[in-house]
Amino acid sequence: MAIISDDDNIKFDKQKNEDTTAEETSFDMSFESNIRPKLFNEYIGQSALKATLKISIEAAKKRELPLDHILFYGPPGLGKTTLATVIATEMNSNIKITSAPSLERPRDIIGLLMALKAGDVLFIDEIHRLNKISEEILYPAMEDFYLDMTTGKGQTLKSIRIPIPKFTLIGATTKAGALSGPLRDRFGIIHRLEFYTDEELKQVIQRTSKILEIKIDENGAIAIARRSRGTPRIANRLVKRVRDYAIVKSNGIIDEKTANKALDVLQIDKYGLDNTDRSLLKIIAENYNGGPVGIETLATALGEDSKTIEDVYEPYLVQRGFLQRTPRGRKLTPLACKCFNISNIDLQQSLFE
Ligand code: ADE
Repeated sequence: MAIISDDDNIKFDKQKNEDTTAEETSFDMSFESNIRPKLFNEYIGQSALKATLKISIEAAKKRELPLDHILFYGPPGLGKTTLATVIATEMNSNIKITSAPSLERPRDIIGLLMALKAGDVLFIDEIHRLNKISEEILYPAMEDFYLDMTTGKGQTLKSIRIPIPKFTLIGATTKAGALSGPLRDRFGIIHRLEFYTDEELKQVIQRTSKILEIKIDENGAIAIARRSRGTPRIANRLVKRVRDYAIVKSNGIIDEKTANKALDVLQIDKYGLDNTDRSLLKIIAENYNGGPVGIETLATALGEDSKTIEDVYEPYLVQRGFLQRTPRGRKLTPLACKCFNISNIDLQQSLFE
């Protein structure tokens, strides 16, 4: 399987991987493709989704037709791109990886579609950011595998249909709600990726450690898993940071004690929250009496972009039961007060209202 992602129109923006930090070394980055699972039997977690995909893939192979178009949605870092590459490998297909912001002009998407070969998988990340014109070019391509083009001018203007090979589009988004209805309706398979359990993350960490030759025991892997906020991308990042700590401050082996000390130094608490998460909760508690507070107000107070808060920070805080999204704004939960020792009486009362 060839992964084609670096020609002119097809830019997969690595920087969009919110959890990839600047300090991550190019040496580490060169291992990224090694630690990515290539087949379903290497891919840990998302078991319900894997089960349905396996059936769809087998059926498509038996029918000798491409797989239905697939939409993956859910918080960042849960493996949408990885899953798309696994699907292409399992289908014995090539995959082209791009992201909607790099498909600015009509010719970007047209060029991409015309270069496809029968059975190819086209992966579009952040598909909710596709502009209207590109979206409309996609509709007939997805539905009937042709492009609607016009030639000539004025009197001689005519519309032509150009057939393109049958392909599978895999779209990924952190915001399913931001996708237009007509685009959403053209996907035959729509699936949400779930946060991983600690046990699944432990397995991801053990697998990654083995590939990267990091020495880690089971309790060390569990300690990192617990603070990885249900996200394999974060787990894989933390295991490398903890390895660095273990090499410098200990004997290079990650056990529970070393893992916990390293994560304390990284200021990641026992719930997996970092400084920004904690500041967000603290601002709601102290400045807004527990909320509700509007997302834009919160973003200004925190000095973060509201989209980053919505896409990166909030999903896990909501999933852990620390934050509530209400029509009037964001609100702390009683659980957040309990876990973070927020004891202000007014606040406690307002939260139960
Ligand atoms: N690395 C990142 N995501 C993974 C997954 N779901 N399974 C195995 N390794 C991974």
